[in-house]
Amino acid sequence: MKIAVIGTGYVGLVSGTCLAETGNDVLCIDIDENKVKRMQQGEVPIYEPHLDVLFERNIKAKRLKFSTSLEEGLEHGDIIFLALPTPEDEDGSADLKYILGVADKIGILIKDYKVIVDKSTVPVGTSDKVKAAIAKHATVDFDVVSNPEFLREGFAVDDFLKPERIVVGASSERAIALMEKLYKPYVRSGNPILIMDEKSAELTKYASNAFLAAKITFMNEIANFCEKVGADVDKVRIGMGTDSRIGKRFLFPGIGYGGSCFPKDVKALHKSGQDHNYDFKILDSVLTVNKQQKVVLIPKIENYFKGDLKGKNIAIWGLAFKPETDDIREAPALDVIHSLLNLGCHIKAFDPEAMDNVKRKLGDKIEYANGMYDALAEADALVICTEWSIFRTPNFERIKSNLKGHVIFDGRNLYDVKDVENENITYISIGR
Ligand code: UDX
Repeated sequence: MKIAVIGTGYVGLVSGTCLAETGNDVLCIDIDENKVKRMQQGEVPIYEPHLDVLFERNIKAKRLKFSTSLEEGLEHGDIIFLALPTPEDEDGSADLKYILGVADKIGILIKDYKVIVDKSTVPVGTSDKVKAAIAKHATVDFDVVSNPEFLREGFAVDDFLKPERIVVGASSERAIALMEKLYKPYVRSGNPILIMDEKSAELTKYASNAFLAAKITFMNEIANFCEKVGADVDKVRIGMGTDSRIGKRFLFPGIGYGGSCFPKDVKALHKSGQDHNYDFKILDSVLTVNKQQKVVLIPKIENYFKGDLKGKNIAIWGLAFKPETDDIREAPALDVIHSLLNLGCHIKAFDPEAMDNVKRKLGDKIEYANGMYDALAEADALVICTEWSIFRTPNFERIKSNLKGHVIFDGRNLYDVKDVENENITYISIGR
């Protein structure tokens, strides 16, 4: 099938590449000329496991091409995916200027029937707005479909190729048939393509992300309470998770959720509620608790150093908002760093992938280490902010010989408490 993907951010690039991988002819459009040039030369602009291999293979096979021309995209594709940013507006709502701007242009350029598919995360009712924006100028038939993505960073390629479900919000039989044909190769395992109305599809995305954010937040509160009563959150987590109604996943407490989706989507759903005269009290609490949770280690660190943090050298392991990504958007590590800098600490940080992004954001406010052990040199404490695999089985002898103060504050509960204590290191984690 012939497909155009408008927007080559994270979602657009993964979707375009994976759609090409199953034999579709894909043209990706972006307004950033420099980025398009780099992609045409085979350079993948983001870090995402396995994407590079698929990217190269499909460019070589000429199934994946790039352009800056929206007009070319509309001529090429029978299906036009919109994978445009929906950044947070000042009031927390999703800003639709990019989506509606492109919809407007599509209305002017469209010459024959197309299915316009919205992949971006958008508030309920957006597909009606997209339809109206296109219809303002269009003289031919078209359909608008809501097809939210559920890709996790770090697993996006796998999630796209083997989705647990595909949600398609559409009201036209013609568009539904095209979408089913397009997605058939991805659900050979028997996972469903769920056809529903556009509004339900739009809300499914927000409801899923907000629910997962609430699940994590609930566990974070249980962890905080465990500390008050002397319970062990690891035991509680497993005790809860073995109930199939609850499930084992997304129960790991830590220093809060971050990333480009959960924070933005929880706020946007909350705001959407207000706009429709509905007060999402549960989301209000999720937002408040997560904000506090991101800096939950700070009082623990202050307490350990008896309030005297001025001039302390702190090593940080992990800057990305989660492992297997270089993404630092809303990363809890940044909140930790800001708080420690305000308290007069000197920071030396290490992350396997996110260092360049942090350098661009923080410049010389902190020091950047060449490796995980280098970060520890002369440090008074180690603070762990992201659960990268390489941090899971460290050489404790090397930690002790590099780290001046033998104390670890672990925001991701990477180690067994006893194992670290047996190394004669003070170990302060979450909820244990
Ligand atoms: C998420 C959704 O999973 C995905 O379906 C959606 O399309 C986009 O948003 P992503 O942002 O890539 O994906 O990250 P995810 O793996 O879901 O983790 C989100 C945050 O929750 C991270 O900060 C992670 O550290 C945190 N988290 C996750 C926990 O604190 N505890 C957990 O048990 C799980």
